[in-house]
Amino acid sequence: MGSREPTPAMNHAREVAVFPTAADLARAVADEFASQGRECVARSGRFTVALAGGNTPRQAYELIPTDLPWDKFHVFFGDERPVPPDDAASNYRMARESLLSRVPIPDSNVHRICAELEPETAAQLYEDQLRECFPGEVIPRFDLVLLGMGTDGHTASLFPETGALRERKRLVVANWVEKLNQSRITLTIPVLNAATRVVFLVAGDDKATVLKRVLRDPSGEQYPVQFIRPGSGSVKWMLDSQAARLIEGFGPGAVTQRN
Ligand code: 6PG
Repeated sequence: MGSREPTPAMNHAREVAVFPTAADLARAVADEFASQGRECVARSGRFTVALAGGNTPRQAYELIPTDLPWDKFHVFFGDERPVPPDDAASNYRMARESLLSRVPIPDSNVHRICAELEPETAAQLYEDQLRECFPGEVIPRFDLVLLGMGTDGHTASLFPETGALRERKRLVVANWVEKLNQSRITLTIPVLNAATRVVFLVAGDDKATVLKRVLRDPSGEQYPVQFIRPGSGSVKWMLDSQAARLIEGFGPGAVTQRN
């Protein structure tokens, strides 16, 4: 066989950008957040974004500029662990420390998942919040959803072999995750797939194997992250070169390829 086969064309609009280091990735994600925010406010008067949790986003959140129209931004969360907001494991705490505490966003524009409550109550409360913030939208359409990916291919708190993967009506569910022995609150697949733009931020060598399988088979259903295929939205994978090291055709450097 001649040159290495490029990653097969995907059946939906998708962009992949690879950055040399996690720091370069963080800068690029911060820039993406800022440009999406400015454009949405200019276009519609507000910007609705669901933040990713975990560790990878922290460095990017720390770089998001303060000189944005924060009074027009509404920040939500893709998922939350069953802990209070000041717990070290809280996605809200991570976002507050890295971003929300240093920008002039009105408290009422930060929509926290009250995951310290009984799971079903927390899920229903968050669904109610979504419906209030997206009046008239059967399924809320976020301007931007930031998502990470675990080494098992989970995203948000949609873990392999969990009930939330089958949910097609509710917006938010309490998802029992056996391997974590805990219930997590998560946006559901219909909400994530309604987004105007989904950005995955993935860094680290430990993600490379699953990432290769996912990007080579975007319509597969082996991993939860493959269920995220926005019907009319765009998807951008923002990777560091470690995570992208097994993906053919994408070398290090800010390489962008549309499929
Ligand atoms: C969470 C996240 C989860 C995360 C992935 C990747 O609550 O943990 O929502 O989906 O994005 O587990 O996490 P890292 O960025 O820490 O690898």
